[in-house]
Amino acid sequence: MSITIQFLGHAGFLLEGSSAVAIDPFLTGNPVATLKPDDIKCQAVVLTHGHADHFGDTIAIAKANDATVYGAFEICEYCGEHAVGKLEPMNPGGKVAADFGFVALTQAFHSSSFNGKYMGMPCGAIVNLDGTTIYHCGDTSLFSDMKLIGEIYKPDVAMIPVGDRFTMGPELGAKAAELIKPRVAIPIHYGTWPLLTDDISAFTPAGVEVMAMKPGEKWECA
Ligand code: NI
Ligand code: MN
Repeated sequence: MSITIQFLGHAGFLLEGSSAVAIDPFLTGNPVATLKPDDIKCQAVVLTHGHADHFGDTIAIAKANDATVYGAFEICEYCGEHAVGKLEPMNPGGKVAADFGFVALTQAFHSSSFNGKYMGMPCGAIVNLDGTTIYHCGDTSLFSDMKLIGEIYKPDVAMIPVGDRFTMGPELGAKAAELIKPRVAIPIHYGTWPLLTDDISAFTPAGVEVMAMKPGEKWECA
């Protein structure tokens, strides 16, 4: 079964199939976003970590949709304190079954805080929706276990941060794609602000198709 993948800009996505799953829905204050939080209709929100450019509009979207938030224990605790009702607290290595498939969290090498509050481990997220598997790497450096994550989950699509400074740049991102070996690699987390490089011409992984998406663009992943 095919799903539709919409890029929300920066590191955010909306996956649509039998359910709709938002990942890192940062729209308010996102200079490249084309959608508003009210535009997002979803049953689940999956978070890689607590930084504002990922956590974004999670609370408003979760409340408006009565959606379930999947994320690190501390992020879910924070959401609970802000009256989000449906929570699936997790940690790296864990997998939670869902109506639409499953959500798993992987490790990522980064940090995770929100308004000075510790938000748990930074993570990557595996989302299986109707049998299609995506690996959103979150914000991370390169690490060799990406190969293992690729072998275990066999992702169809990997979303890989390549903007440098806070994550991998395009060269290391290409190496990550070669380790993960998805069918398609989507570069993310670049060019949003001047601090992040917008030249990703070196993101040329061997043997992996690269698909750079424009904010708002939709792709039917068959
Ligand atoms: Ni971050
Ligand atoms: Mn970030």
